Amino acid sequence: TKAVLAYSGGVDTSVCIPYLKNEFGVQQVITLAADLGQGDELEPIKQKALDSGAEESLVIDVRERFVNEFAFPAIQANAFYENRYPLSTALARPLIAQILVEAAEKYGADAIAHGCTGKGNDQVRFDVSIGALNPKLKILAPAREWGMSREETIAYGEQYGIEFPVKKSSPYSLDRNLLGMAIEAGPLEDPWVEPPNDVFRLTKAIEDTPNEPEYVEIGFEKGIPVSLNGENLDGVALISKLNEKSGNHGVGRIDMIENRLVGIKSREIYECPAMTVLIHAHRDLESLTLTNDVTRYKRGIEETYSQLVYNGLWFSPLKGALDAFVQQTQERVTGVVRVKLFKGNAVIVGRKSANSLYSMDLATYGAEDTFDHKAAEGFIYVWGLPTRVWSEKLRQ
Ligand code: ARG
Ligand code: SIN
Repeated sequence: TKAVLAYSGGVDTSVCIPYLKNEFGVQQVITLAADLGQGDELEPIKQKALDSGAEESLVIDVRERFVNEFAFPAIQANAFYENRYPLSTALARPLIAQILVEAAEKYGADAIAHGCTGKGNDQVRFDVSIGALNPKLKILAPAREWGMSREETIAYGEQYGIEFPVKKSSPYSLDRNLLGMAIEAGPLEDPWVEPPNDVFRLTKAIEDTPNEPEYVEIGFEKGIPVSLNGENLDGVALISKLNEKSGNHGVGRIDMIENRLVGIKSREIYECPAMTVLIHAHRDLESLTLTNDVTRYKRGIEETYSQLVYNGLWFSPLKGALDAFVQQTQERVTGVVRVKLFKGNAVIVGRKSANSLYSMDLATYGAEDTFDHKAAEGFIYVWGLPTRVWSEKLRQ
C-alpha cells in the first residue's frame, strides 16, 4: 500500500507516519501539508515529515483556491452554521480532501490517510469528500483506532525517533486558517466558564480595542468582495487585511454550543473577523439589490447550504443545485458597503449600488413622493378580506 497522509506537523499526524507503516502495513507514506493561510512556516514541516519516516513530503499553497472556490461561494450564500459560525474549518476540509485525491492520483497511491479522531466532524468531511471524488481510494484513519492517550502517542513516536519539542503545551485544540481559528477543549469544556484571554489570537479583547471607531468600505462584484477602502485586492490579501482591521476592534469572536454531526454538543470558540464582516456586509448589499421574494427564498437555501457544508457534503448533487441557485441571484449584487468597526461590533452604516432597487421617490415622506396613497385602500381591502371573513364567522 502507498498512502497520501494529510499532514500538519503536529503530534497525531506525525505519529501516523510510523503507525501506518507498522500497524497498517503501508509501504510508502507521502505526506501533504496544505498552506491554507494558517500562518505556520511550512518548510520545517516538510523536513519534519521526512525525518519522521515519510518517503515524500509535499507542501502545497492552496490559499488562492481556498478563497476563490470555497470562501467566496460561502459568502455569497451568507453561510453561518446555526446562525453564527462562518464555517472556517468546515470549508477547508473538502479542499484538503481534493488535493489529497489529486496527489494520490498523481503519485499512484491507493490510500489516503488522516489523523482525525472518531468524535469530530472533520473525519466525516474528509471521508465523505474523498469518497465523492474517488471512491476507489482506501481511507485510513489511525487516530480513530489507536486508542492511545496523548502521552502514549508521544511515546510511540519517540520509539521511532520522532522528536516532540517540549513547548509550553497548550490545553486547547486549535485549528487555524485564513478564514479563522477554531478553539476547543481544556477549560472551555465547561460551558459556564468564560473563555480565558489566552485562547484568542486573532481578535483583541474589547478592553484593549481602540476608543475610536474605524470605517471600512467593502466593494462587491456579483456577490464577491473585490475591494477594501477603494483599493482593489485579490481575495487572499483582502481577507488578510480585513482580518487584521476587524480583529483589532474585537470583531468576530464567537462562543457557542454547537451541534456536531456525530450527535455531540460541543462548546466552540471561534475567531473569524473578516468572514463575519464580509457575510454581514454581503447580506446587507443583497437587501438593496435583491427583490423581496428572492431574498426570502434564499434564506432557506442558505440554511440548507450551511448545514450541508458543515455536514461534509460539499461535493454532492444537492450542493451543486444550491450553488446554481445562489449564483443566479448574485448577478446584480454589486456595490459598496460601509462598515463601522468599534468595540466588538461591525455595524453597517451605509450601502450603495448601481443596481439598487431602493427608490427614493417611493420611500420618501417628502414632497417628491410618487407613491399612490389612494391605491393602498383597495389593496388593503383585498389583503385583509380573509381576516375579516374569519372574524365574522369564527372568531370567539
Ligand atoms: N467544530 C468545528 C467544526 O466542526 C471546528 C473543528 C476544529 N477542528 C479541529 N481539528 N480542531 O467546524
Ligand atoms: C477532531 O476530532 O478531529 C476535531 C473536532 C472536529 O472535527 O469537529
